[in-house]
Amino acid sequence: MKKIVVLVSGGGTNLQALIDAQHRGEIPNGEITCVISSKEGAYALERASKAGIASRVLARKSYDSAAAYTDALLSALQEEQADLIVLAGFMTILDEKIIRCYENRIVNVHPSLIPAFCGEGFYGLRVHEYALERGVKVSGATVHFVNEIADGGPIIMQQPVAVERTDTPEILQKRIMEQAEWKILPKVVQLFCDDRIEVADGKAYILD
Ligand code: GAR
Repeated sequence: MKKIVVLVSGGGTNLQALIDAQHRGEIPNGEITCVISSKEGAYALERASKAGIASRVLARKSYDSAAAYTDALLSALQEEQADLIVLAGFMTILDEKIIRCYENRIVNVHPSLIPAFCGEGFYGLRVHEYALERGVKVSGATVHFVNEIADGGPIIMQQPVAVERTDTPEILQKRIMEQAEWKILPKVVQLFCDDRIEVADGKAYILD
């Protein structure tokens, strides 16, 4: 059984999608054992508590330096014996030290079709603001492994979503969450726990 640690910073709807998938028995080879939030009072913590999942708060502002924060987060992940780390709306960029320790064992959900609207500065609602400004007709979500390049790791799964003329960033965000993020994130976690994701030459492939 793989131990899944979910890192959050906000509302935690993607965490909820994972909890729901677990309750439906869709992740038979994995268990969410801990939720770590970078923000005190994040609603995601409430979701963890309601589901009986242990949680920790590691707020960046409680540490003097980025290096001290990285060390604390790394210790927490090691204490939790994480097999898979899921970034589910985690708004702090992970230091290379952590990425190196967990190569191809950290996945992130991003609310666009990478390589569009990604990289530093593209997070949350801003991604959808840029997409609408550019006038794209299709956006969507991507789940990828995390490497040292922001949103640059091997792409595991993508789901396109239509953009409507009347969309606001909030409306588009909600549609992409409902039609893409909440579906592909639990699916990727299931596949990872079933040992069905392979990385070769920097690209991810799903095994039959
Ligand atoms: C989600 O849309 C997620 O894709 C995005 O933040 C939101 C978190 O929502 N993540 C990023 O933009 C990361 N670059 P949630 O807390 O309700 O899951």
